[in-house]
Amino acid sequence: MTVHFIGAGPGAADLLTLRGRDLIAASPVCLYAGSLVPAALLDHCPPGARIVNTAPLSLDQIIAEIAAAHASGLDVARLHSGDLSIWSAMGEQLRRLRAMNIPFDVTPGVPAFAAAAAVLEVELTLPGLAQSVVLTRTSGRASAMPPAETLAAFAATGATLAIHLSIHRLAEIAAELSATHGPDCPVAIVWRASWPDQRIVRATLSTIAEAASGGPERTALILVGPVLAADDFADSSLYAPSYDRRFRPQSAASRFAGDDA
Ligand SMILES: C[S@@+](CC[C@H](N)C(=O)[O-])C[C@H]1O[C@@H](n2cnc3c(N)ncnc32)[C@H](O)[C@@H]1O
Repeated sequence: MTVHFIGAGPGAADLLTLRGRDLIAASPVCLYAGSLVPAALLDHCPPGARIVNTAPLSLDQIIAEIAAAHASGLDVARLHSGDLSIWSAMGEQLRRLRAMNIPFDVTPGVPAFAAAAAVLEVELTLPGLAQSVVLTRTSGRASAMPPAETLAAFAATGATLAIHLSIHRLAEIAAELSATHGPDCPVAIVWRASWPDQRIVRATLSTIAEAASGGPERTALILVGPVLAADDFADSSLYAPSYDRRFRPQSAASRFAGDDA
């Protein structure tokens, strides 16, 4: 018996990996994390599967579901939105399963920040503008931020910011980041990226609060950085005609010439 932790993707039912789909289809028990996991994914469950929405359950109750499946020798598909490596509450479940010697594996999913970038048709790392992306959030009721992980500290690096779980604090965030990025820095908000009711607002730090006012206060990503509106950036060296590289040696004298590896 195995508990398969599966990244369910950002919302669209076809943004699930083939591995995830097959594991759901092979598992007689499916535990899924509430409204952020699209109901259509549950159609992959085998007939007669036990399907449980874990949103109203405590961690103890979720582990009890898994322990019951384990006692019956039944595989469990455990679905969380997006990818499991960020804000999935997988860590605390894995710790319990390790202590109970219950086997598990992990299948990645498409994270919301990648879905939002796709919807916006942008690359978040552009030469000379930003070569890092900070996946962050602001403090919430359930999770305080470690003291050094401030927006100001991340902003000071100039990296593209992907701010999760914070749309209800948009005005505050825009005001704070204006000090580091300047009021004209581009911002985009994507609500429910890849869902049928997805929404996008593009603006600047000085105009975003008004542009997004009245928008939903849940399930949105705030992306901040010059990459969002840049056309004036250098091509990457990788595809430059003169760039000597393993897959395109520039001469017989290249250190890559004759290298098939
Ligand atoms: C608990 S976190 C889950 C993150 C998820 N594990 C991931 O890989 O993206 C929920 C937050 O992710 C963001 N989010 C999740 N799905 C989203 C979507 N389809 N569009 C925009 N933001 C989304 C929102 O900021 C939301 O408040």
